[in-house]
This record gives sequence, C-alpha cells and structure tokens, in this order.
Amino acid sequence: MGEKTYRFVSRPYQGNLPKIEKLSDTPLKTVQIITEISAEVYYLNRLLWSVGIGIGVGALLSIIAGYALARRALIPIQKAWDKQQQFIADASHELRSPLSVVQGQTQLLLRHPDHTIEEESVPISAILKETKRMSNMVSGLLLLARGDSHEEVIICKPVRVDGIIKEIAQNMEPIMDYKQLRLQLHVEGTEFLINGAEDRLIQLFMILMDNAIKFTPEHGQIDLECVRQGKSVVVTVKDNGAGISERDLPLVFDRFYKGDSARDRGDHGAGLGLSIARWIVDQHQGSVHISSEVGHGTSVTIRFPMLVR
Ligand SMILES: Nc1ncnc2c1ncn2[C@@H]1O[C@H](COP(=O)(O)OP(=O)(O)OP(=O)(O)O)[C@@H](O)[C@H]1O
Ligand SMILES: [Mg+2]
Repeated sequence: MGEKTYRFVSRPYQGNLPKIEKLSDTPLKTVQIITEISAEVYYLNRLLWSVGIGIGVGALLSIIAGYALARRALIPIQKAWDKQQQFIADASHELRSPLSVVQGQTQLLLRHPDHTIEEESVPISAILKETKRMSNMVSGLLLLARGDSHEEVIICKPVRVDGIIKEIAQNMEPIMDYKQLRLQLHVEGTEFLINGAEDRLIQLFMILMDNAIKFTPEHGQIDLECVRQGKSVVVTVKDNGAGISERDLPLVFDRFYKGDSARDRGDHGAGLGLSIARWIVDQHQGSVHISSEVGHGTSVTIRFPMLVR
C-alpha cells in the first residue's frame, strides 16, 4: 500500500468543548483535527483520470465525426464541381472544331484578295455554316447554364398543345418532303390545355422532330401523336430510323452526349438537344421517356399535366 494522506485542520479554541477542556490542566488554545483521507484522494484521482480520458476520447470522436461529416457534405459540391469542369471541357472541345474551320477558311480567303465573292462562295458558306453552328451551341449552353442557376425560368400561361403540334407538323412538311419522309399526324381531340410557355414548347417539339428527321433514312416514317391519357396530355414522336443502342440510351440526356447513331453518320450536332428538351419538360412539371431499338427506331414520349378548366 502506498503513502497515506491526512487532512489537518487547526482552529483557535472558542470555549465550546468543555468535555475535552477537562482532560487537560493547561487551558486549551487551539483545536487541531487530523483525518485520514487516503481513500477520498484515491477516488478523486481516479475520477480526475476518468474525466480526462473521457474528454480526450470525446474530443477525438468529435474530430473524427466532424471530418467524416465534412467529407460527406463535400461530396455533392465535389460532384457539382467535377460536372462543371466536364461541362467546360466539353464546351471548349465542341467550340474548337467550328472555330478551326472558320480560321482555316478565312486564311484561304485571304490568299486570294482579288477573288470575287462568287468565286469564294464555298469557303464563305462554310464559314457561315460553322458560325451558325457555334451560335446555336452557345445559345443552347447559355440556356442550360441559366437554367442551372435558376436565372432562366419560363413564364407559364394556358396553351393548347394540340394547336402547337399541328403547327409543327405543317412547318415540317417541306423538310420532310426534301428528305422523302412520311409524317403521320395523330391528334386525338382538341383543347389539350396545359400551363406552359409556347415558345419553349415549340423548341421542345422541334428538338424531337429534328432528331427524328436526322436519324431516319430516306423513305422512313415519323409519327407525331398527341392524345389525352387521364389527367395528362401525352405527346409522342416516333420514328423508324437508326435507333439507339442499349449502351447509349441511358446517356442521351447528358450534355454533349452523342450516340453511335450520330457518330456513324458524322453528325455535327453538339449533343445538347435532349438536355435542353429535358430542361423544358422539367420546367413544365412533365416527364419524358425514351425507348429505342437499334435498326427499328426510337420513340420519345412526353407527358404534361393537363389544365382542367
Ligand atoms: N430519334 C433518334 N434516333 C436515333 N438516335 C437518336 C434519336 N434522338 C437522339 N438520338 C441519339 O441521342 C444523342 C443525343 O441527342 P441530342 O439531340 O441531345 O444531340 P444531337 O442531336 O446529337 O445534337 P444537337 O441536338 O445538339 O444538334 C444523339 O447524338 C443520337 O445518338
Ligand atoms: Mg438533337
């Protein structure tokens, strides 16, 4: 056993202990009390240790938990950052090729300053085509970026989807004729009202029609359908063209994604059409579904909540 610990208390005598006073001949001046407190000190030391260890372990656990939570909280930020970096890299890549065409063709023009516009119509039209492509791409990118930051919102009012679909079918006739495609229009009923923005809806259906026309070979068929299903207006654009492979299908809504169908035909699209389409559908509280089979065609179905008056 180790050393013992005592507590020593000394007080001047105040004359209140007559029994003890009698035990001695000399008058009491001071009272001293001595108690052994080894056990108390031992337990106090143990308590001190326990509190110390508790605080240490607690602090360590809070640091670990804080670190883990911070890492978890950072995951979405990291993902958004990576996405943003990818977006910038893809955009720069996509803009580089039309820019180099413009640069090359302009240099070609400068070689013959005495040539007339007619003589140089080929490089001039190439420059025009590429600048148009760039301008389309930049406006698409701007729309998506503004949509991401919630700066771009659509102003909704009641619009008739059946009317828009019929108008699009009519406007598409010349290009369908040019590509020798057949357009089968099926609008079942009238007054298909939804809460939406007409210009954005036209843009949406044009994106789908553009894809259907682009990826369907001559003499193919495109079905444009607008029907009511319960409380929804359902628009379907179906073609019997190239189709989309199973590998590409889940990725076609990704920005800048171009599938085999686009690469095989050396298509110059930016791969933004369906990303914009999805944004427009989301803005209208709608849903979009795409199904496809290589060699048999593709069907895109869009569902909007119908406005009942
Ligand atoms: N109707 C379709 N038939 C076959 N493939 C399609 C069809 N629609 C889309 N795809 C595939 O999905 C990809 C993405 O389509 P999206 O409209 O986003 O881009 P894009 O048409 O290539 O370019 P952009 O629309 O920007 O001009 C296309 O590259 C193509 O591979
Ligand atoms: Mg497209």
